[in-house]
Amino acid sequence: MNDLLFTPCKLGNLTVANRIVSLPLYLAYPDEDHEVNDLVLDYYDETARTGVGLVVVENATVEECGLGNPRTLLVSEERFVPGLARLAKKIQGYGAKAILQIHHAGRYAKRADRIAPSAIETWGVTPEAMDVAGIERVIAAFAAGARRAREAGFDGLELHGGTGYLLAQFLSPRTNLREDGYGGDAERRMRFPLEVVRAVRAEVGRDFVLGYRFMADEYVPGGLTLEETAPFAKELAGSGVDYLSVMTGCYDAFALPRYIEDDATEGFMVPFAEAIKRAVPAIPVIAAGRIQRPEMAERIVREGMADMVGLARVLFADPEWVRKARGENTEPLNECLNTCAICLKRVMMQKPAYCGQWARPRRRQLLDRIGE
Ligand SMILES: Cc1cc2nc3c(=O)[nH]c(=O)nc-3n(C[C@H](O)[C@H](O)[C@H](O)COP(=O)(O)O)c2cc1C
Repeated sequence: MNDLLFTPCKLGNLTVANRIVSLPLYLAYPDEDHEVNDLVLDYYDETARTGVGLVVVENATVEECGLGNPRTLLVSEERFVPGLARLAKKIQGYGAKAILQIHHAGRYAKRADRIAPSAIETWGVTPEAMDVAGIERVIAAFAAGARRAREAGFDGLELHGGTGYLLAQFLSPRTNLREDGYGGDAERRMRFPLEVVRAVRAEVGRDFVLGYRFMADEYVPGGLTLEETAPFAKELAGSGVDYLSVMTGCYDAFALPRYIEDDATEGFMVPFAEAIKRAVPAIPVIAAGRIQRPEMAERIVREGMADMVGLARVLFADPEWVRKARGENTEPLNECLNTCAICLKRVMMQKPAYCGQWARPRRRQLLDRIGE
């Protein structure tokens, strides 16, 4: 049953036991000290225990002015390494491989001192346009964050190039209005993310897995589409990135009717993953986006649309998904409801998230833990 899902897959030199990935899902579980706490550890314990082959840990931020939310993990100093090491070990204890996603929110940071490629007002604040010294500082921060991911014992790291965050802001002609060597035509807009990739690779060495969360389409008028992102995917593959984890959309899109409608559709990001897979056949691609039924996940792998399938809200709603896909649990799926966005709403309110599908006692348990 769903046999291909349960075959191994290689990311760089790393062999992952099956093709099911727990995608990064930021739940506002860390406290404002940005450390790995018990809530975070328990969430990843439950996630790794589901039987997924790979767990990608949420948006650990490389410098404070890049925090997308005050309750977010930081990887900006050595003192965060021991907590992250406990997290990596917890995940690996279940046989899953552990990847740390490293992140900078840029203009979407919830900070007065936010920075961006260009000074474009965002959520009522105009970020400071980065000068070349600022660009070099952020590249060094990504490289140092990557080194700490390695020191913490993760099996690899993933650069967060999705959701319209800093790396994507440089790529997009909507948000990068620079007239220096980092802006202008597509090649110059790619320069910053590619320099980050090269600096990170130089820091961690060739053996450490380096993935990229890849925004294939911004989903906004005048925004990036496959026409520009597919060539960027080729550049990433040529720069030593080991896999691409494909998603679509950015904050400016999330309230638009087109995004809302598509987000309600099963497998809505998969055609984008398929297009990127065609552009970079030599490296593995992870597909995402409401991959609700295991049969669909199996078909994605069987038909070569992607090499692995990623689940975020889907797994949060049903931690038994993998066992159900394997036929070990024959109960019906507990589906992530496409009319419910409570996890995202809670995170946007900076409150620890729960799933609308959780039974009342489970939800109560979380609320009791956070004193709500
Ligand atoms: C509450 C929430 C938090 C998320 N956090 C992250 C994140 O930290 N990093 C990331 O790359 N994607 C993040 N995503 C996007 C998911 O990884 C995924 O691409 C998307 O939700 C589609 O998959 P799904 O339908 O299985 O949820 C988040 C999504 C939601 C709803």
